[in-house]
Order: sequence, then C-alpha cells, then structure tokens
Amino acid sequence: MDQQKVDILISSSVWDPKPWVEGLSKSDLVGEIHVWPTKADLTNVEVLFVWKPLAERVIDLLPNLKWISSLGAGVDHLMIDAQIPSDLPITRIVDPFLARDMTNYVVMGLMMHQRSMLSHLENQKSNTWERITYQSLKVGVMGLGALGGHLAEKLVDLGFEVFGFSRTLKEIEGVKCFEASGIKDFLGQAEVLVNLLPVTPQTTDILNKEVFEGLPKGAYLINVARGNHLVEQDLIDSLDQGHLSGALLDVFRTEPLPSDSALWRHPKVIITPHVASVTTPKSAIELLLNNLSRLKTGEDLLHTVNINQGY
Ligand code: NAP
Ligand code: GLV
Repeated sequence: MDQQKVDILISSSVWDPKPWVEGLSKSDLVGEIHVWPTKADLTNVEVLFVWKPLAERVIDLLPNLKWISSLGAGVDHLMIDAQIPSDLPITRIVDPFLARDMTNYVVMGLMMHQRSMLSHLENQKSNTWERITYQSLKVGVMGLGALGGHLAEKLVDLGFEVFGFSRTLKEIEGVKCFEASGIKDFLGQAEVLVNLLPVTPQTTDILNKEVFEGLPKGAYLINVARGNHLVEQDLIDSLDQGHLSGALLDVFRTEPLPSDSALWRHPKVIITPHVASVTTPKSAIELLLNNLSRLKTGEDLLHTVNINQGY
C-alpha cells in the first residue's frame, strides 16, 4: 500500500459501480479501489462506500476501516445493519443536484395533481373537451432538511402556501413551520402532503390512517422518502373511502414493487420506481474526495449522521 493513498471498498448492489470507480480513481488520494463482491485481501481498506444492502460479514474483512459513507442521502440501510460499528463516522450525500432533482420531481407531481393531468389524459382518449380548472393549494412538507428545506423554499417562490414540519422548529421565509408536537395543526392545513422524512424508529409507519384522517378531505399524498414510512393498506382504504384523492409514490416497502401489489392497479395512484432524485456520481465524488482529504488531515468529516438520532 502507498502510505499516502487510501484504499476503498465500494458495495453497490443497486447501482453500477463503474462511474464511481472511474471518478474516484482520478484522485491522487485514492489507492486501490475494490468492488464488492471480491476475493481480494481487504485488510488495507480504510473507507467503505455503500449503496444498499451490504452483504453479511463484509465489515469483518475490514480491520482498518475508518469511515463509511452512504452513496445516497438516506442512511436507513446502514442504521438497520447490525454489523455497522457504532464508533466509526458515517456520512451521507448532501448535494445541490440531489435537492434540485427532488424539488423538480415533487413540483411535477404537484402540478399534475393541481392541473388534473390524469383526467385530461383520460378525456383525450375519447376526444372529450372538458374544462377542468384548478385551485391554489396549501402544501405541507414533512421533513425540512437538505431536501425538504430546499423544496419548501422553492414552493414559496412558485406561489404555493407552504407549511413545514420537522423534529426541531425551523425558520424558513414564507413557510409556516411546525415542530413535532404541532403535527395536528400542520396536517390540518396540508391539502398536499409531501413526505421527506428519514426513516427512523420514530418515523416508521408515520403515513398511517390517523395521519390521513388528520388531513383535509380530498388531500393528495406524495411519498418520496421511504416505503417504510407508509402503511400501504391504510392509504388504499383512505383512497377507496374518498378521504384522500390520490397519491404519487416513488418509494415502497419492497422494491421493486411486487407485481401483485394492489398499488400498481389503483386508479388514484401514480407509481414511479424510486427515481425521484438519484445521486449524480460526478458531484457526489467531489464531496467524497473532500471528505477523504479531511479524513487524512484529521479534520471533522462533512455531512455526518447522528447515529443516536438515526439520520
Ligand atoms: P435530512 O437532511 O436528514 O432531513 C431530515 C428532516 O426530517 C429534518 O428536518 C428533521 O428534523 C426531520 N425529522 C427527522 N425525524 C423527525 C421526526 N421524528 N419528526 C419530525 N421531523 C423529523 O434528510 P434529507 O437529505 O432531506 O433526505 C430526506 C429523505 O429523503 C432521506 O432520508 C431519504 O430517505 C429520502 N430520499 C429519497 C430519494 C428518492 O429518490 N426517492 C432521494 C434522496 C433522498 P430536524 O431538522 O429537526 O433534524
Ligand atoms: C435515495 O433514495 C437516496 O436516499 O439518496
């Protein structure tokens, strides 16, 4: 091993590791890059980059591991993995491209709902000229972090009335913010509810019957955070009872969404396959290399996860 360089293991069971290997290998800081699965000796690996799930017992092969990073914004895949040591820094991707793309996706969903695009598409099939007009909307954003905070700001610029909800109270210009204890008042305003919370023991199953009943009649749900936030049957019941008017879902408890899931066929549900905002290797690699340089000089890493909070 070159003493100046750091060996890396990449475990990406969902994405192609190639762009990551190519991008990282251009840096003088980077030594050998291994891609899991491998039979190579991993003793010198100091850094692990993971996009879920990590195979069992990989950590046992890395006695010199110093830092783990998720290759996405979410770290739930690491938080639930018992082999992840609690004494190593864990970081995640916080990237303006990720925030921009998420905001664009949610705005698309909001506009499609506000402008009744599904009804217009249906009418077009029978040459039906029906002037369905639109109303202004109050939008509730759950989670005001890197993604939800960006979204809330942009929605204000677009003229929506915006309500925000987070664990600790935030101040965002033009946004009426609520902390966790204010959930009832927050929900009561949200004609569209956008979920951008992380999955933690406190937020698992948070999109449930009780929360749906707290929303105004006719409310619309956009879930772009994680499938484990949503109790799917409660959503289907609320849609069938006519309380919720529809849902745009990008994330699911089981991905790919099983072909026998009732969600696929539900007329009020739009499904996309976890593509709301996808990490851009080029910009994420800059962030990872910045942190690698900090690791080498002993500076604090950026975008660390608070393991006790779970995000
Ligand atoms: P983040 O920066 O960690 O922000 C999380 C926000 O949720 C914070 O405002 C936090 O409150 C709030 N929160 C956490 N626990 C809470 C609780 N119990 N009650 C109320 N609020 C709570 O996360 P992010 O980078 O914005 O990403 C959010 C999630 O988006 C990720 O975890 C991931 O699951 C998902 N995601 C999905 C896609 C996709 O393509 N579908 C892409 C990227 C990310 P405080 O501000 O008070 O800490
Ligand atoms: C995608 O879901 C991410 O967490 O980046």
